[in-house]
Amino acid sequence: MGKPASDQTNSAGVLAIFGISGDLAKKMTFRALYRLEAAGKLGCPIVGVAIDDWDEEELRRHARASIDATVEQPDDEVFERLAARLAYVQGDYSDAATFARVKEALGGAQHPVFYLEIPPSLFATVVKGLGEAGLTEDAHVVIEKPFGHDLASARELNAELCEVLDEEQILRIDHYLGKEPVMDITYLRFVNSILEPVWNREHVSHVQLTIAEDFGVDDRGRFYDAVGAMRDVIQNHALQVLALVGMGPPTGNHTDSIRDKKLEFFKAMRAADPKRYVRGQYEGFLDVEDVAADSSTETFAAVELEVDNWRWSGVPFFVRAGKCLPAKASEVTVVFKRPPNLGIGHGRTPEPNKMTVRIEPQPGSRMRLFAKKAGEDAFEPADLEVLFEKEPGHDPEPYERLLGDAIEGRHELFTRQDTIEETWRVVQPLLDEPGPVHPYAPGTWGPEEANDLTRGVAQWSEPWLA
Ligand code: BG6
Repeated sequence: MGKPASDQTNSAGVLAIFGISGDLAKKMTFRALYRLEAAGKLGCPIVGVAIDDWDEEELRRHARASIDATVEQPDDEVFERLAARLAYVQGDYSDAATFARVKEALGGAQHPVFYLEIPPSLFATVVKGLGEAGLTEDAHVVIEKPFGHDLASARELNAELCEVLDEEQILRIDHYLGKEPVMDITYLRFVNSILEPVWNREHVSHVQLTIAEDFGVDDRGRFYDAVGAMRDVIQNHALQVLALVGMGPPTGNHTDSIRDKKLEFFKAMRAADPKRYVRGQYEGFLDVEDVAADSSTETFAAVELEVDNWRWSGVPFFVRAGKCLPAKASEVTVVFKRPPNLGIGHGRTPEPNKMTVRIEPQPGSRMRLFAKKAGEDAFEPADLEVLFEKEPGHDPEPYERLLGDAIEGRHELFTRQDTIEETWRVVQPLLDEPGPVHPYAPGTWGPEEANDLTRGVAQWSEPWLA
């Protein structure tokens, strides 16, 4: 049995954030740190590191500006507590002197967590610098996607990191796994014993997952043009959600069981078939700043995936994701088999039951049943709905949860390299043979060709909107 993935005695003595002057810190990290501080979950100093010529005062000013912009009515007292934790180290990541200064700032704290909010091309440089300064022995290093751009580059990146670190020291963030409704999938499935007996190919017709955004690429043209929808959200967020929907039950005897079960699920997933893949590009994408004039990058992708195991063989998993679609909606639906025509309800065949977990807009779950329409011989939906958030805005947000977990030494929600490699294996044929990209009008559900994918099985479900 492996080491426990969660260990309170491993709580970080310090959190060092490389790239503290960047965009992610401004938009997400200071807010997450503020919320952790407000919840009393931040018990260590924070050392910000960046190339910018800032000092502690300047760092605090930026922290305050970011928190004012992202937190509704921040509490001064909470901010002061957070500000008192902040220290700053200026330096170039290729200079050994930077790491000597970082070491001094850490002050010999045990179990440091290094959070690298920097371009992936700099991960290896920073990790090497930390190693040479003798800072990695009992440390954890948190990194952000992209973890490579295909299977080979994901392996290369990992090999570089593993020259200095062991696998269990690397905490890879997929922020979707820090979303409460995504965690709810595991709870719903396995703490309700009525679901498990029907959660398989005997009873399920197919699974649908949609990650839709109703806005474009905005100012991220350079990043997005090199990536596209398949690499940006399907290889990571979408597949992680599917694994939680499709994996076998975790076993109670060790804390890494969920990650093991997800890996098993991915191992049973067939490498995707380029013939079952549709790419789209919204009209207007080529005018976005820093997008190549002849770009064939997809801003919409839809694919059918198959899982060869006892539970799912023959059950299609349909996934679609895209920008400039009609709504911001992220949800997964398990569609059960249709009942036979029984001659009731005017002789119509009843629609299938569906269970949906909604991640966006309002986290919740809905079981679609049908009942008799009052006064008529007809069916009508009789939905059982639950909203997960008891107090909107109160639940931990993804970065808050994940950074808090990294600090506390809880690692179950971070993605392991074995899983990353399996997900790249699954999508690799689509990267090798992407096929044509079809234009679509902003505000539509992608190109018409996406409807051909599900034809014969079902139609894409209308998202459940609040
Ligand atoms: C990110 C992608 O990983 O996830 C973005 O890079 C996408 O393109 C985002 O918009 C979606 O996540 P969320 O939590 O903002 O809905």
